[in-house]
Amino acid sequence: MTLILSRYVRLCRLAVLALGALLVMLTALLGQAAHAEEPALGKEDLACQKCHDSATIKPKMTQAGESLSLHISSSAFLASRHSETSCTDCHENADGKDHGKVEVPMKSRRDYRLSYQDTCTTCHKKNVADYKDSVHAHLVKAGSDKAPTCSDCHNVHTQINVKIVQPIANVPCANCHEEIFKAYSGDVHGLERVAKGKSAPLCADCHSSHKIQAASLGEGIKDNCFACHKDAVAKHEVWLPNSGRHFEAISCPVCHAPDAQRRVNLRLVDSAGRKQIKEVLGVPQFERLTLAANTSGGSLNEKELSSFLKEFNVEQTAGKAILRGRLEVRSGVQAHQLSVKEKAIKDCRICHEVGATPFQSVVLTMAGEDGRPLRHGVEKEVLTSLTAMGSLRGFYTIGSSRIKLLDYLLVLVLLGVLCVPVAHYTVHRMFKPRREQRLAELARSASVAANTSAKNDNKV
Ligand code: HEC
Ligand code: HEC
Ligand code: HEC
Ligand code: HEC
Ligand code: HEC
Ligand code: HEC
Ligand code: HEC
Ligand code: HEC
Ligand code: HEC
Repeated sequence: MTLILSRYVRLCRLAVLALGALLVMLTALLGQAAHAEEPALGKEDLACQKCHDSATIKPKMTQAGESLSLHISSSAFLASRHSETSCTDCHENADGKDHGKVEVPMKSRRDYRLSYQDTCTTCHKKNVADYKDSVHAHLVKAGSDKAPTCSDCHNVHTQINVKIVQPIANVPCANCHEEIFKAYSGDVHGLERVAKGKSAPLCADCHSSHKIQAASLGEGIKDNCFACHKDAVAKHEVWLPNSGRHFEAISCPVCHAPDAQRRVNLRLVDSAGRKQIKEVLGVPQFERLTLAANTSGGSLNEKELSSFLKEFNVEQTAGKAILRGRLEVRSGVQAHQLSVKEKAIKDCRICHEVGATPFQSVVLTMAGEDGRPLRHGVEKEVLTSLTAMGSLRGFYTIGSSRIKLLDYLLVLVLLGVLCVPVAHYTVHRMFKPRREQRLAELARSASVAANTSAKNDNKV
């Protein structure tokens, strides 16, 4: 009995020992595996870091008088997305014999950054191609020393995964577009972003990150809104007649930034494709022609506007230029003061009323070489003056199947003017019967609109 028991104890001991040994081996193996996965600097990189991760490396003075830190943290580099790459992948010329011993003159930090623009191409072709098509890259190419290069938005030595949600203040755009960032931070999206994290848009969600275009160009931003607000069209359609047409003619912040000032933007578009006309590279037209037309100084009056268009069309080779109206907010800051839906404009009269405030300020716009708008003030009377309508008729085709902005404004004006008998007589003489019939039709639809508006107002 005792023998069996002692044998059993021995066996147990052996088992425990064997298990212990196995455990030790396993831990060692696991430890090794963990160690192998932990990124470490390669031999070459270690050599660089002997000097560059040392606290004693002196900052370099550029010829422009800036002090550039040469310290590169190994731990930050290893934690970055570039840990798989080697210093010399990007710094080909840094392992020469003289490196670090002979001072190489550096013009300025900006100049230095620009010299690295092409390094990224080897590994990030798509981002580089997108960036090259951006308003920023156009500005850099045109000599701007303020528009961003890759390194202005990314610190390559510390870049972590871009999908990791960062505090909004870390968004690179904030460095340069401070005022807009401030407005955005306090608007409906900024506040939502801070409260709930990723779901609400950051700058790049509306503007894209690399292929950034001038914001007012075409209708690009609108489609980005719909990418998240998929049911927005349907939700407006319930109370806003022909919301699709309204969305074309009104930028979203006009109704959604309640305190913004608004204005009419007369854009130059080509009559065939309805695409905004851009200034041709190296052939500035807009400033020259508006200056030439603007004999009275200040804003363009109706005569000056039509003489501008005439001249413009003489020089225009690719199709005829016409004007298309669009309601916009007056500044970039105001475009980022979106508020909750309860505060949005719902009252039709804010726009569909004679003398409506958004129509008291008018600009003429052409897209510049880089897409950013070139503007010239226009007297507001141009919109309402009947003779101007006459002179506008040449380039603005009234009477197509849809009511265009100016058509509609004309109806509004007429609704006001028709009450005055004298004006009524003038109108009578100015327009042929067929046109009058059409205007009457339009006026009817406008009063339907006004009624709907009254009903809607009661609902609110
Ligand atoms: C012996 C110390 C030392 C070593 C090793 C060293 N550097 Fe440097 N490095 C310096 C010093 C000093 C400067 C400033 C030189 C100057 O003033 O022009 C510098 C400047 C630089 C610069 C900025 C100026 C330029 O020429 O672009 C880069 C980038 C750079 N080093 C990368 C590297 C890389 C990559 C390695 C490894 C392959 C490396 N260094 C190894 C000391 C060193
Ligand atoms: C993926 C490309 C890339 C890798 C990898 C990289 N660098 Fe750089 N490095 C750059 C670019 C781009 C700049 C210039 C942009 C700037 O000024 O921020 C730069 C600038 C520098 C500078 C000048 C100081 C500065 O911050 O502008 C030093 C020094 C430097 N790098 C050292 C290193 C060392 C050492 C390593 C390896 C541990 C390394 N770099 C890895 C792209 C790289
Ligand atoms: C105006 C600022 C800005 C500039 C300039 C810029 N980027 Fe970016 N980049 C961003 C932002 C913002 C993101 C994150 C986008 C997101 O969250 O999806 C990003 C993401 C990336 C990514 C990872 C996501 C992806 O699309 O693959 C890479 C790689 C990248 N950038 C490379 C570059 C290169 C290369 C350049 C220069 C040609 C450059 N970036 C210029 C702002 C910029
Ligand atoms: C030698 C190749 C190489 C070069 C050159 C290089 N990168 Fe990268 N980059 C990578 C790798 C690898 C990653 C890791 C993620 C991946 O596979 O896309 C990365 C990631 C990034 C990311 C983050 C992507 C993400 O998904 O979070 C950014 C931003 C970025 N690089 C910017 C740059 C910029 C700016 C330059 C030029 C100054 C540059 N890179 C040059 C190889 C490179
Ligand atoms: C290094 C500075 C810098 C950074 C970083 C930067 N920008 Fe810009 N950006 C400029 C400059 C300069 C202009 C031209 C002046 C202007 O129009 O404000 C410009 C122009 C623009 C325009 C065109 C303006 C127009 O009239 O429509 C947009 C849109 C824009 N930036 C968006 C962004 C976004 C989004 C980011 C971040 C992903 C960003 N920018 C980051 C400097 C910067
Ligand atoms: C004519 C003014 C006007 C224009 C233009 C306009 N909106 Fe609205 N929008 C409103 C009003 C008013 C509401 C609130 C409606 C309600 O009370 O049901 C609203 C509601 C919304 C909502 C909340 C929908 C919901 O009920 O969940 C979103 C999102 C929205 N709009 C996005 C947009 C976008 C994107 C654009 C540009 C394409 C745009 N809006 C253009 C007036 C406008
Ligand atoms: C919800 C979408 C949205 C977000 C987020 C957003 N923007 Fe905009 N941004 C717009 C709209 C809409 C416009 C006006 C476009 C128009 O004229 O129709 C605009 C206009 C601009 C302009 C041109 C301003 C001008 O003077 O005409 C710049 C620059 C700009 N945004 C930068 C930024 C920056 C930087 C951020 C982040 C801090 C940002 N945007 C965030 C939608 C957005
Ligand atoms: C990346 C997704 C995204 C994009 C892009 C985006 N939004 Fe939003 N938006 C949100 C989220 C998330 C909220 C907050 C939750 C909600 O009310 O739906 C919000 C809220 C709003 C609200 C307030 C709605 C309410 O119920 O009070 C309006 C108005 C709005 N967005 C308009 C716009 C406009 C205009 C644009 C384009 C210029 C735009 N959004 C682009 C995600 C987005
Ligand atoms: C922020 C200004 C604004 C508000 C608010 C507004 N509209 Fe409009 N509306 C316009 C503009 C600008 C046009 C001209 C669009 C065009 O060029 O065809 C228009 C066009 C119209 C049209 C003609 C559309 C078509 O079928 O071609 C009708 C009808 C109309 N609006 C009714 C209304 C009603 C009803 C309301 C209120 C529920 C309203 N609108 C609110 C600015 C506004």
